[in-house]
Amino acid sequence: MKLAERMSRIGVESAFDVLVRARALEAQGRSVVHLEIGEPDFPTPAHIIEAAKKALDEGWTHYGPTQGMPDLREAIADTVSRTRGIHVGPQHVSVVPGGKPILFFPMLALLEPGDEVIYPNPGFPIYESMIRFLGATPVAMPLEERRGFSFDLDLFRDRLSNRTKLVILNSPQNPTGGVIPREDLKVIADLLRDRDVVILSDEIYSRIYYDAEPPASIASFPGMLEKTIILDGFSKTYAMTGWRMGYGVMPTWLVEAVTKLMVNSNSCTASFTQRAGLAALTGPQDCVDRMVAEFRRRRDAICQGLNEIPGFRCAVPGGAFYAFANVTGTGIGSKELADLLLTEYGVSCLTGGCFGEYGEGYVRFSYANSLANLHEAVGRIKKAAERWEAAVAAR
Ligand SMILES: Cc1ncc(COP(=O)(O)O)c(C=O)c1O
Repeated sequence: MKLAERMSRIGVESAFDVLVRARALEAQGRSVVHLEIGEPDFPTPAHIIEAAKKALDEGWTHYGPTQGMPDLREAIADTVSRTRGIHVGPQHVSVVPGGKPILFFPMLALLEPGDEVIYPNPGFPIYESMIRFLGATPVAMPLEERRGFSFDLDLFRDRLSNRTKLVILNSPQNPTGGVIPREDLKVIADLLRDRDVVILSDEIYSRIYYDAEPPASIASFPGMLEKTIILDGFSKTYAMTGWRMGYGVMPTWLVEAVTKLMVNSNSCTASFTQRAGLAALTGPQDCVDRMVAEFRRRRDAICQGLNEIPGFRCAVPGGAFYAFANVTGTGIGSKELADLLLTEYGVSCLTGGCFGEYGEGYVRFSYANSLANLHEAVGRIKKAAERWEAAVAAR
């Protein structure tokens, strides 16, 4: 029996593979500092856990509405309206199990072979995987280190065609930590306003930013709301990756399509987790502020440490919890370097190539780990650097 042809086009997320390799080394007694996986290392805040326990006791253990519970959708609409400066209601919200289904379902609903999708590269690997899986054509937008990992707007204009159906934006960004400046979003909005395209704005890191101003959303520019899908969720903001709960905010015709795909696949998102999600959005937010403050300390520490390593150059990211270091100065390929760091020095990180061809030459370090472990990792990389230091100095 053969798998369907489309399965030859679907990709994977390498972070999970590297995690397995790292755990196998640990099982052999090796010490590994985990800087590969993209999830907050903090526990889910206690009041959210309490809300879930209470919900279980109260019997929230049955099917719920496919689109998500009305009061949770109301709270999501309020939060998104307030944080993005837009006006949306519960009818624009789909609650789904994690952020990923808001990539999967809208793309499944929209894309046909021949459609072009513009997406960031390096970028979250699921974008390209889904585009190829659905037989659409991926059109990569290289992210530029010298522009804070935003893209070249002239190139973006050139890449738009009458086959462009979807544009994927991600800010704050995985894997670079870059934040798309408001001025760039304005240019992008001006270029897209009169086109028949949908924008999928992946804002899963919307609460994890380090500048005074929150990252802007393309949805807040005139004429954009009616063609934008905002992807956000609970995984990163409230350290709830294992709960599997996310949401999309989009025009109602797309909500209808997502709801049909949900009823065909999941029926609904788990009921008691939705009660916990409501507690997360309506409860105290100081837990999020504390987490972000700690991420900022770690960001500063790891970027400083990485910039002291010969051959490394690491821009200070404006959001998310990733440091994306340019390692071309080491003279070692980024994949080889990431392998060397894991197998010989016990630092688990991801080669930029995991995020697309334009990620080559970079290594991603997730700083969702303690300051002590980050210092340990930098110390280990400095030891590893003795291998290439002499060659670098001689150049
Ligand atoms: C850019 C981006 N989008 C979406 C997701 C998916 O989030 P979730 O775990 O809620 O499905 C991730 C997770 O790493 C991500 O980095």
